[in-house]
Amino acid sequence: MDDYRGLIPDPHLPPQTIFFDDTVIAGITPMQRGKPYDEIIDRPRGMKGYILNLTIDGEGLVRDGAQSFTCQKGDLLLFAPAVPHYYHISPAASRWYHQWIYFFPRSHWLPALSWHCKVDQVEHYSLPEENFSEFSGMFWEIIRRNHSQGATSQLLSLTYLEMLLFRRQEIARQEEDLLLPASAVSDVRISLAMMFMQENMMRADLTLEEIAAHVHLSPSRFNHVFLAAVGQSPIKWLNGQKLKNAKRLLESTELSILQVAQRSGFVDPNYFSKFFRQQTGLSPQQYRSGADVAGPKTAEGKAKAVSASSSEA
Ligand code: FCB
Repeated sequence: MDDYRGLIPDPHLPPQTIFFDDTVIAGITPMQRGKPYDEIIDRPRGMKGYILNLTIDGEGLVRDGAQSFTCQKGDLLLFAPAVPHYYHISPAASRWYHQWIYFFPRSHWLPALSWHCKVDQVEHYSLPEENFSEFSGMFWEIIRRNHSQGATSQLLSLTYLEMLLFRRQEIARQEEDLLLPASAVSDVRISLAMMFMQENMMRADLTLEEIAAHVHLSPSRFNHVFLAAVGQSPIKWLNGQKLKNAKRLLESTELSILQVAQRSGFVDPNYFSKFFRQQTGLSPQQYRSGADVAGPKTAEGKAKAVSASSSEA
């Protein structure tokens, strides 16, 4: 685990240079304080392709706009094209080892690249502990294939990458499904409607009619089918998702309450505070200070908030 140097060329260290014009490029960056890889990755305009990043050891700190968050073993990050990169070893740690994959996706991968779990622009997902080796293994396989010659190896690294993205989606869905009745899990119209609602959660003009049309049902039929399968109306479920998102942002970012409301799809901040209090018994501010004292409550909240200024290593 200690020394990966020489094993995989790293693009930011001369004289090795990798030109990012291939479909998949993968590697590992073993950042250790005071050693050659100890530097800040700073790409204000991001990259042309996507970057997947898996922490395998230590702790990294990622700055995303005014926000910073840390990532630990098992945290997957996804930077879409043009999303700024600014990351390095966390000031609290002596090292940060991460595996990464730079790629241009096939078009049918696009839904698997939307994780509904963004801190500003960076998607993040904390793998369940029992899946860490499986994912790290897939990264290794891609890295290994990527650094061997031949078209077949390149194709195989794409295949592994496809598997990795869809496995993540499957695991994330299984986690969500655990919270749902079996009737909802088995009805594909419900899953599609839920995905549609999550993707459009921030839109103020999202209507029941539009969601129903997405799954080819009339609004009243859709309401009925959803209520029967899930045990609550689509709008109530959607509000629950917004609340979940708001809680996560309160726990893991320093966004203002107004920004949290907006990013969770609440048009009216007063309504947001009222709704939040009704559902949790706390104001958003109280919830946040509770979250600070007790630490993140959920796996999603693992990406802890740290002040932007502390990121200046
Ligand atoms: C390396 C970084 C890694 C990734 C690739 C593209 O230098 O260490 O995180 O951004 O470049």
